[in-house]
Amino acid sequence: MSGRVIIAGLGPGSEALVTPEVSAALAEATDVVGYIPYVRRIAPRPGLTRHESDNRAEIDRARHALALAVAGRRVVVVSSGDPGVFAMASAVFEAVEHGTPAWRELDIRVLPGITAMLAAAARAGAPLGHDFCAINLSDNLKPWALIEKRLRLACEADFAMAFYNPRSASRPEGFARTLDVLSECCAPDRVIVFARAVSTPEEKIDVQALSDATPEMADMRTVVLVGSSATRLIRRTGAPFVYTPRSVPA
Ligand SMILES: C[S@@+](CC[C@H](N)C(=O)[O-])C[C@H]1O[C@@H](n2cnc3c(N)ncnc32)[C@H](O)[C@@H]1O
Repeated sequence: MSGRVIIAGLGPGSEALVTPEVSAALAEATDVVGYIPYVRRIAPRPGLTRHESDNRAEIDRARHALALAVAGRRVVVVSSGDPGVFAMASAVFEAVEHGTPAWRELDIRVLPGITAMLAAAARAGAPLGHDFCAINLSDNLKPWALIEKRLRLACEADFAMAFYNPRSASRPEGFARTLDVLSECCAPDRVIVFARAVSTPEEKIDVQALSDATPEMADMRTVVLVGSSATRLIRRTGAPFVYTPRSVPA
């Protein structure tokens, strides 16, 4: 078999949420390339080389994977969730576009995974049941002014929203600013779901009103879902169901 690159999503954490297609690709791989914690999810076995790299080394990691494939290896680049959502698929194609012509001719495939916002939405009920958008709140790869503009426009359009990378130790202020913008644009009872480590043993789902939300409720293992103005809570014993109706009256 000649060399190839498969860019695969491992889902949010539980092995039960890894697709059979991804498991089959991993079983055939000679090399797994990715961020350290994701590569460590793949059990070692004879014939498999695991290449771990730091989170900030995405393009270098992509080039490494492509070079291995040109040398005839069957490479799987792993991401958490879905590889096309704030993850390695774009990095690989960016490397292909700017790299050696041989990389364009490689067999390169993207295998989807269950992204964090969908795993979180399923736990809460159906908060993304109508129109929604996803925003990465990290300003590592784009300016904060653009994030804030998109936030304000998403509020104006009354989208439900999913926030990835909401708050890290090195940039705690961004999520506090996000809550300030939401408070300016939305009613205080707007539903907000903090979904941490979904589908892992540390999972925690916390449903709040916007007025009660604090920056400390999110960290880098949390995806935050904000309802639209139509999103509803069904209160009952234990956690409420959160859902957004399928229709908006004319
Ligand atoms: C760099 S993004 C990668 C997203 C990933 N490709 C996906 O589709 O889920 C990392 C962010 O995804 C979210 N995330 C990933 N796994 C999660 C999980 N199991 N529970 C909650 N949020 C998660 C967090 O917001 C985290 O900061």
